[in-house]
Amino acid sequence: MTAETLETRAPVLIPETPAFLNAKVLWVRHWNEHLFSFAIERPSTFRFRSGEFVMIGLPQEGGKPIMRAYSIASPHYSEELEFLSIKVEDGPLTSKLQLIQPGDEVYLGKKPTGTLVLDALLPGKRLFMFSTGTGLAPFLSLMRDPDVYSAYEQVIVVHSVRRVSDLAYHDEMVALLAEDPLIAEEAATQFHYIPTVTREPFRTTRRIGALIEDASLFGHPVRGDQKLNPETDRAMLCGSTEMIKEFAVMLEAQGFEEGANSKPGTFVIERAFVG
Ligand SMILES: Cc1cc2nc3c(=O)[nH]c(=O)nc-3n(C[C@H](O)[C@H](O)[C@H](O)COP(=O)(O)OP(=O)(O)OC[C@H]3O[C@@H](n4cnc5c(N)ncnc54)[C@H](O)[C@@H]3O)c2cc1C
Ligand SMILES: NC(=O)c1ccc[n+]([C@@H]2O[C@H](COP(=O)([O-])OP(=O)(O)OC[C@H]3O[C@@H](n4cnc5c(N)ncnc54)[C@H](OP(=O)(O)O)[C@@H]3O)[C@@H](O)[C@H]2O)c1
Repeated sequence: MTAETLETRAPVLIPETPAFLNAKVLWVRHWNEHLFSFAIERPSTFRFRSGEFVMIGLPQEGGKPIMRAYSIASPHYSEELEFLSIKVEDGPLTSKLQLIQPGDEVYLGKKPTGTLVLDALLPGKRLFMFSTGTGLAPFLSLMRDPDVYSAYEQVIVVHSVRRVSDLAYHDEMVALLAEDPLIAEEAATQFHYIPTVTREPFRTTRRIGALIEDASLFGHPVRGDQKLNPETDRAMLCGSTEMIKEFAVMLEAQGFEEGANSKPGTFVIERAFVG
């Protein structure tokens, strides 16, 4: 991905603190006025599992750094750490974070964590990753992890957004996989990407729940049962609190059981933001 720098200025370096790592910004890409992606250097000591989140932040004058949870969008073997971020108007962190440029520094938490990991899910045939908005981020990590293709026959990323321009990565999703020699071959036959845009004309305009209910999610290119099956399907959910709650109820009613790192199950959830 190329860096997009609108203006040149000296890089902004930030004071070191014992609590966080300082990490240099490598590139920034703005998708629209609400969304951007960026990548930072990966400190040599930093380990994580694909799908985990970590704290990212910036210093604050006269106070502690402002830190927020961010899903890591890169797979665990990546040399850089990539993130997909919302721009919240007047948001304490993102009103500033959206101004970062290559060469600037940000704070990075030392301990990634999370439940959207393979360890919390039982093996199965189809893995559905249901996301709304920036909830896509952990799935950008998992869809590039070779272990995902070993554990599941089909890997299906479903992304629901309001507007077409919110479909971050839409145009390069397939190329991201095809250009990665670790997963290119498996992804070519096992990976499916199903975007839906709910507030603008698009080829699919209904919410994910409606696509499951009328079974249109299970047509070509997805193969197999025409409904979710707890025996063979696994689901990961990341998005708005409301979506997560509704889907958890729907999945449990169909016999799915929520998994955790300590006890793997047939579905796992994570809120993409608190609010
Ligand atoms: C486990 C976890 C993982 C997260 N991963 C990501 C991520 O990968 N990318 C990301 O952009 N954010 C993510 N978030 C949200 C993130 O932590 C911050 O809330 C976000 O960066 C905004 O920070 P802020 O200080 O500008 O505003 P905040 O004060 O944190 O948020 C203000 C309000 O903005 C809305 N909001 C916040 N984040 C989002 C969002 N992502 N999408 C839509 N509305 C939002 C909510 O209504 C919230 O109440 C995650 C949150 C959690 C709990
Ligand atoms: N993205 C934008 O254009 C935009 C613009 C201005 C402000 N914001 C602010 O950013 C915040 C989040 O916006 P967002 O677009 O990232 O997230 P969002 O409102 O959660 O919408 C993202 C996608 O999730 C769908 N969705 C919402 N609730 C759902 C549920 N319960 N079940 C299934 N699907 C559901 C939406 O469908 P529906 O369209 O049917 O709701 C949409 O397709 C909001 O507070 C908003 O005010 C966003």
